[in-house]
Formats: sequence, structure tokens, C-alpha cells
Amino acid sequence: MPADLSRRLLAWYDRHARVLPWRTVGGACPDPYRVWVSEVMLQQTTVATVEPYFHRFMERWPNVCALARASLDDVLHAWQGLGYYARARNLHACARVVAQDLGGRFPDTEEGLGALPGIGIYTAAAIAAIAFSRQAAAVDANAARVLCRLFAVEDPLPGGGARLRSLARGLVPARRPGDFAQAMMDLGATLCTPRRPACGRCPWSSACVAGRAGKAEAYPVRRPGKAKPVRRGVAFWVLRADGCLLLRRRPENGLLGGMMEVPSTDWREGDWTLAEARRQAPATARWRRVPGVVRHTFTHFHLELTVLAGRPKAVGTAGIWCPPWRLGDYALPTVMKKVARLVDQSS
Ligand code: ADE
Repeated sequence: MPADLSRRLLAWYDRHARVLPWRTVGGACPDPYRVWVSEVMLQQTTVATVEPYFHRFMERWPNVCALARASLDDVLHAWQGLGYYARARNLHACARVVAQDLGGRFPDTEEGLGALPGIGIYTAAAIAAIAFSRQAAAVDANAARVLCRLFAVEDPLPGGGARLRSLARGLVPARRPGDFAQAMMDLGATLCTPRRPACGRCPWSSACVAGRAGKAEAYPVRRPGKAKPVRRGVAFWVLRADGCLLLRRRPENGLLGGMMEVPSTDWREGDWTLAEARRQAPATARWRRVPGVVRHTFTHFHLELTVLAGRPKAVGTAGIWCPPWRLGDYALPTVMKKVARLVDQSS
């Protein structure tokens, strides 16, 4: 039965696999470096967003040793807009370990891969299966949905990862385990979608417990999420008479670690008065409130920033004065680009 399931899925994959830049055609084993970079980029990010980043990365750093020689700043800069910047820092740290301690070769087992920075259970299994043909169960969000429906798993997501991996392990074939892993991902992304799954075209429809009961959409069962709190802050757009903008670097550890930012107050759940905000301003200035609000959502909270613009009389904290034409040289996270856009719209 499992052999029949995997055979049917692989036959479907042979006809319908998405063509993606990190995949190979004709059964060739892909380069572990490309698989690793793609998997790290694809954590929490869609295939459509990742593709152009992946191409640029490969052009600039075609192998792990090239990436290890890059500066962290350059890697963060190339990551700009992908979000979850801890991934970029770990990617860089991992490249250095592989290049310097492992002779430029990735470990070829789940265990070895899982010991590297930024490689968790899923990513280790995906690289082991795709790049090294290991019989590993790589269960990402798409594969999890497929499995929950196939076996009518009642355990709510997120959670239940161990159970799903064990169910997946029972299906992974000894031959083509990497294709099998990616076939489950493609099935989840293209047919077994969260809403209105196309069960009529699914190679597993006759075996799918939820689908046969006409209840595919009821799976996976979702754990009710906690509402995200809204934090607020005030950002300071400090422009010198020569047009240079004040930027500063965020602390290495924590949210957006090491990235450049437009200086701001703390981000907290309460509102800010002008007097309170001024006490945390990086400069003294006559402030003008920029109309509108910047909204951005992080993993654990929503952020609302109001923006004050001014010409500095005296600057308190250290920072970098950036000419407008050099703004692109810095790794500015998306939330800070939104600040720049708001100011731009108002001027
Ligand atoms: N998501 C994560 N890894 C993937 C892959 N190799 N192909 C398609 N989607 C993915």
C-alpha cells in the first residue's frame, strides 16, 4: 500500500512537477549548496518571492566557499526584503563552518546537517533527501496538510510534528526520496490547497481518508491562534542640510539584528506622547509629524510607527549619515523602507 502510494505520487510528479531553479531535470542529483540555500530561503517565504533572490544569490556566490568569504553585511543586504533575517545570519555562519571546518562539503546525513547553524529538523531532512537521496521524511507546511488529509489526522496544527514525520516515514520510498519529498510539497501547493482542494485530480484521492469522506477542507485542524498585540513607536527622520539621512545599526542580537534602521523609540503596546518620544530622539530638532502611519507585521506582533521629520540642531547618539543616493547600499529591512516611502509621499 505505501509502495503503491509513492509510485502514484512519483508518476504524478513526473508529469506535473513545478520547474524551479534549484531543481534538476532528468534525475541528476542537485548541488547540495543550491538545495541548502533554497531551503533556507523557502522557510516562511513563498516560492514566487524566493525565485529572483535565489538567482541573484547564485550568480554572486556560486558555491559555499564564495559565500563564506562574503561579509555578513553583503549577505544581509542581498537578503533585504526576504524577512526573518536570522536566517541570513545563520546561512552565513553555516557557510563558514562548511567551508572552514568541513572542507567545503556538506554532511550527507540528517544528523550531520542538523548540527549546522540554521538547519532544523525539516531542513535537515529536506537536504538529506533531495541532495543526498537519503530516505528522510521532510514535512513542511504543504506536506503536513497533505498528510493530515490522507490520514484524517485530528491533532491540531501547529504541533504534532513528530506524528506527521512518523506517518511520512512510512511512505518515503528507498528510490527517489528527494523527488518524493518535493512531490508532496508540490501536491500541497498546487492541488491539495488549503481551500477548495482539487481532489478530482489528486493521485491519492482513492486513498485519502478525509477526501473520500468529502471533508478534505476540514483538515488540518487548526489550533486557535493567539491574537498578535499591536506595538507602537515613533521613528525619527533626521535630515541634515546636505540631504544626508541619519541611520543607525540595530543591536546584533534580536529582531532585525545587525540591520540598519531609521532611529526610533522603543516599540511598546502603549501610545506615545510627543514629549515622551522626544526623550528618546537621536537628535534635537523642531519635529514635523509626517501624515499617515507605517504598519508592519512581524511574527509575534503588529507594529505601527508614526514618523517625525526634522533638521538636527544637535545629534546625541552615534549613527551613520547616509546620502540619499547611498540608501540602497545598506541592508534596510522592509519596515524601514515603508518609513522612507511614507516620508517620500508626504514631501
Ligand atoms: N518548499 C520548501 N522546499 C521546497 C522545494 N524544494 N520545492 C518546492 N517548494 C518547497
